[in-house]
Amino acid sequence: MSATPPPAPRVLSGIQPSGALHIGNYFGAIVQHIALQDRYPGQAYYFIADYHALTTLRDPARLRENVFDAAVTYLSLGLDPARSLLFRQSDIPEVHELAWLLACVTGMGLMERSTSYKDKIAQGIKPSAGLFNYPLLMAADILIYDGTLVPVGKDQLQHVEFAQDMATYLNEAYAGDGPPLLVRPEAILGTAPIVPGSDGRKMSKSYGNLIPLFESGKKLRKLVGQIVTDSTPLGQPLHPDTCNVYGLLKLFADEAEQAQIAGWYRAGARDGQPFGYGHAKMLLADKIDAHFAPARARREHLLQHPDEVEAVLRDSAARARPLARATIDRCRRAVGLT
Ligand code: ADP
Ligand code: TRP
Repeated sequence: MSATPPPAPRVLSGIQPSGALHIGNYFGAIVQHIALQDRYPGQAYYFIADYHALTTLRDPARLRENVFDAAVTYLSLGLDPARSLLFRQSDIPEVHELAWLLACVTGMGLMERSTSYKDKIAQGIKPSAGLFNYPLLMAADILIYDGTLVPVGKDQLQHVEFAQDMATYLNEAYAGDGPPLLVRPEAILGTAPIVPGSDGRKMSKSYGNLIPLFESGKKLRKLVGQIVTDSTPLGQPLHPDTCNVYGLLKLFADEAEQAQIAGWYRAGARDGQPFGYGHAKMLLADKIDAHFAPARARREHLLQHPDEVEAVLRDSAARARPLARATIDRCRRAVGLT
């Protein structure tokens, strides 16, 4: 008996085009996305979720800018178009057709359980039908490319579970004893730490406590200078584990260096000289500056050559679209649309 081989794992994730990305986004999401292209070369699909952005953004020029900015950011930080696809969600309009087919087999009970919808309304976002239907479009995003691995943050886990349920509903309604129409996706939860912002809360654009990814020089030093610390005087022992500056420093240092810096904190001294928060902040600013220097240079190049960015987005969409087309054709036939 010959069993059908399981489909090759395909990584798929959407990126919100929500303006300048920050260090929290970098360690929380972007690093993992880029690392997955090494593990699954040719099978890492990333798209910029511009249809989804319309649920909260009503400024066409800003939407275009944000999409471009997200693409430039990923390409600068190492997304390699030879190993990954990076496309605009809206270049594949077929997702809406699949979202509709999913809507017709999905009960209102499931939709009404959406925690992200409730959270967004609680934040004051207008409860439009688009916002309510967000999970249908996101499920279609995943299922249309037979995405099997979906790297997301915890806040997106329920959406991936909804996609699993919706795939099952469509399969149960229409696949009969034949092969499933849609492949069941699994979420990959990163092990990334929560990156603290300058006030010690989670770094987030909603809290105004962020360090943008590509800041450098004086502006960067000013932002790092604003990180809240206690008022222990210079030369006294400090506690690395409760310090927001150390929380960020750790992300840029290997274990040996982390131990060394923690040692300076606890001693309140470095090489016989007093060590205080000002020194820790200078060290952090230098590290951020150096870490992102190559990416900043690539970014400058891409900003001068928007046609290169556009070419990646178009070429990726051209490669992704036949897959979407195949899924939609299969589903259309199965439901009786001819
Ligand atoms: P924001 O909180 O700034 O609005 P998003 O919600 O758009 O950020 O997050 C996009 C991605 O970045 C998500 O995968 C999220 O988990 C990750 N992320 C955002 N902020 C942080 C943070 N401070 N620490 C770790 N990951 C983060
Ligand atoms: N909702 C996701 C977010 O806010 C973005 C997204 C849209 C997505 N479609 C997706 C993520 C499909 C993973 C898979 O971050």
